[in-house]
Amino acid sequence: MAGTLPMAGKVVLITGGTGGIGKATAIGLASIGARVGITGRDLARAELAAADIRAASGNPAVDAFAADMTSQAEVRRLAVAILDAYPRLHVLVNNVGGFWAHRHPTTDGLERTFALNHLAPFLLTNLLLDRLKASAPARVVTVSSGAQSMGRIAFDDLQGAGNYSGQRAYNQSKLANVMFTNELARRLEGTGVTATSVHPGVVRTNFGAEDQAWFFTVISRVVRPLLKTPAQGAQTPIYLASSPDMDGISGQFFVNRKPKAANKVAYDTDMTARLWRVSADLVKGTSA
Ligand SMILES: NC(=O)c1ccc[n+]([C@@H]2O[C@H](COP(=O)([O-])OP(=O)(O)OC[C@H]3O[C@@H](n4cnc5c(N)ncnc54)[C@H](OP(=O)(O)O)[C@@H]3O)[C@@H](O)[C@H]2O)c1
Repeated sequence: MAGTLPMAGKVVLITGGTGGIGKATAIGLASIGARVGITGRDLARAELAAADIRAASGNPAVDAFAADMTSQAEVRRLAVAILDAYPRLHVLVNNVGGFWAHRHPTTDGLERTFALNHLAPFLLTNLLLDRLKASAPARVVTVSSGAQSMGRIAFDDLQGAGNYSGQRAYNQSKLANVMFTNELARRLEGTGVTATSVHPGVVRTNFGAEDQAWFFTVISRVVRPLLKTPAQGAQTPIYLASSPDMDGISGQFFVNRKPKAANKVAYDTDMTARLWRVSADLVKGTSA
């Protein structure tokens, strides 16, 4: 039975698969036969989520990994664990992300939104890139947001040290996701590995709950029932990760399974190359 499913034989890693959009993406991809690895900060919580995903998908091939991805040392440790566990890796879904109303420094001394939403996927992808290339055809899907359209990369203050705003930091990080994707797509031309980014819609999850802006608390109470369910929010990430329609498609931003023009900065190759260089410097030691 499993051999007839479209993702049978494929190995997928989804960061942040313990809840929200990531967990729903994991259920969707496990249901069509993929071996799925999920990550979260706490191993016990990740194991519980993996058990839920096995039950919901009917697929026993779900593995749990733990790493606090705000820490570059933890991202590096996670990459080693993934390379040990998976001799082949066909899809990486960079889904982890968050919003913080106030500025929080990470153990590396970086601002948390930029560190978790952009530098963590940047570093993890680079550490797994050779394995993805060796497993080609392979795909990197990065979960951005509609907020990317309002983003601006403040190269003079990427860490929001001067005047932090949660919304500005989030918009910047989600634009960085699309810029990273487009630059990655260019660097991967001819390798059989594609890179796409996605706005999943506005989805009812735990997003932003750790340090929520007051207006989000008010708005989310009112509009929460109208938001997409996690399963609905996962539809485009699942499509990008698995559909034959996406074979060879790279360097595009998707909303509701359709390509959409992103922030024009994301197509400025000087800017995307600059962000890549600055990011490589901030994750020192990565051969990126
Ligand atoms: N929800 C929306 O409306 C919406 C809209 C547009 C874009 N997005 C994007 O969609 C993605 C997923 O969001 P979501 O709404 O599903 O969020 P969520 O419900 O808050 O889930 C976040 C996931 O990331 C994990 N996580 C959080 N902090 C982490 C850390 N420091 N290290 C490792 N893992 C961590 C969480 O696992 P643990 O708590 O178990 O560690 C959880 O699995 C994000 O990139 C977000 O920007 C969401």
